[in-house]
Amino acid sequence: MMRIAVFASGSGSNFQAVLEACVSGIIKGEVCQVVCDKPGAYVETRAERAGVPLFSFSPSDYESKKAFETELVALLKEQQVDLIVLAGYMRLIGPVLLGAFEGRIMNIHPSLLPSFPGLRAVEQAVDAGVKVTGVTVHLVDEGMDTGPILAQKPVTIEPEDTYETTAAKIHRIEHSLYPETIEAWRKTAEERESTWQNEHS
Ligand code: GAR
Repeated sequence: MMRIAVFASGSGSNFQAVLEACVSGIIKGEVCQVVCDKPGAYVETRAERAGVPLFSFSPSDYESKKAFETELVALLKEQQVDLIVLAGYMRLIGPVLLGAFEGRIMNIHPSLLPSFPGLRAVEQAVDAGVKVTGVTVHLVDEGMDTGPILAQKPVTIEPEDTYETTAAKIHRIEHSLYPETIEAWRKTAEERESTWQNEHS
């Protein structure tokens, strides 16, 4: 069973979608850890209600990113985490976490990357007047919303759409695209592992 850690900073609707997809079997895995860098964020209530272990921390309590990432790596190794899923985690991943989980950190972003990276991507798209925006799931590298793209889906912006209605459309797509992409990644990783085993047995 693939063991997933979800990192979030906000409401956690994507955490909820991934959790429910694990429970219903859409993802053959389980969410074994939630990490939140914004104490009090609603994702913490969701994690507690679901009985998922929560690590809540304030980055400002640490002397550096290296210091809190070192602690996180120890926790995630202890929890035998296979995949880190960023779900509205509004912080760049540093070299300590990237090095420990190379190719095993995934992010979801509310635009068709490489358009509109960074903060307030939905607002950026609406302000730019584009007719189509969307959702991207990608593997994380050292950049901001860069890294190999795994899946994308478009969302149309109609003339009457606002930030709120566009964000709602995007969330609806995210809640199915993220679980599907996580499960597809798991299958590919499993196949890669079994090929490796065959070649080395
Ligand atoms: C999601 O729309 C996600 O794509 C976005 O934050 C939102 C979190 O919603 N992530 C980014 O902008 C990352 N650059 P949620 O807390 O309800 O899951």
